[in-house]
Amino acid sequence: MQLGTDIQRAKSLLQRGELVGIPTETVYGLAANAFDGNAVAKIYEIKNRPQFNPLIIHTNSIQKLAGWGIHLPAQALLLAKHFSPGPLTYVVEKSALIPDIVTAGHDSVAVRIPNHSLTLELLALLDFPLAAPSANPSGYISPTTAQHVFEQLGSKLPYILDGGACNIGLESTIISFISDMPKLLRAGGLPVEDIEQVLGSAIDKTSLINNENPLSPGMTSKHYSPTKKLVIGLVQDYLDTYKPNEIAAIHYAEADAYLPLQNQFILSPEHNLNRAAQHLFAAMRVADKLDVKLIVADNFPQNGLGFAINDRLKRAATT
Ligand code: TXA
Ligand code: MG
Repeated sequence: MQLGTDIQRAKSLLQRGELVGIPTETVYGLAANAFDGNAVAKIYEIKNRPQFNPLIIHTNSIQKLAGWGIHLPAQALLLAKHFSPGPLTYVVEKSALIPDIVTAGHDSVAVRIPNHSLTLELLALLDFPLAAPSANPSGYISPTTAQHVFEQLGSKLPYILDGGACNIGLESTIISFISDMPKLLRAGGLPVEDIEQVLGSAIDKTSLINNENPLSPGMTSKHYSPTKKLVIGLVQDYLDTYKPNEIAAIHYAEADAYLPLQNQFILSPEHNLNRAAQHLFAAMRVADKLDVKLIVADNFPQNGLGFAINDRLKRAATT
């Protein structure tokens, strides 16, 4: 069986330089021993990932990071106390132990302690960190179930740890601590409001506005995209161009009166943005497989996880 919960098997594959699909609370990752440059090279190959786009390394403790020469500055440590394990990634100074292929030649490294029991158990057994991007072909929607990983990368992977559906459903929030003021590089599964509340001050969000951002090479304006054309707006504005059965809709809380119900995905009838985030990527995948020509998505409220949901939809809508 290629899918399962056998941590020992995952461990021995990783020790041998093989790749393993791993669950996290955000999205599934495609993991390799971060100290093994040849194993990490396979990640780029299997995902068809551009060589300039660095990877996040994952472990289960700050102490282990320190042992590998990676130190979190004071503000990052404060956030870690509140939010790690959790959907927050820290960009800090790299140590010599981390191969250049992991950081795509940058002097910084992105680190995260994911909050998923199965993966935390696995990480506790390892004396190396796991380099792991989202387990999707580069540019496509991130996977939020083991089945999503299996469908797209199953033929190239010896094993996928099946930890069920991801609790958060959006990739981690990324903050850089390289300059004095913490900089938001990617909106994600931890709302910015929560981060600012703990820090007691605002963080720098200017690099999100400039979306072909050299500080965060993966944040290209087009990303997270279904194969079908996706637009953000109102279904009724597209009925002149498309027939109702040629459109799928991704709605926050309510169905519209224009499309067949089987073409509509309601992410959270109770208007809960966390719920909506959990279901977003799975809905985009199913919508992409329907026999339609267009996917219309709602504009979400800009607070809490709505900020990151809108970010992903905007990138998905970029042509
Ligand atoms: O939730 C997540 O973060 C998931 C799970 C698997 O942990 N991982 C994930 O990885 O989303 P990936 O590779 O799909 O996205 C990582 C992002 C990319 O945009 C990359 O450019 C950025 O992190 N990144 C990695 N290292 C960096 C660095 N040293 N400086 C700036 N950005 C970095
Ligand atoms: Mg990704």
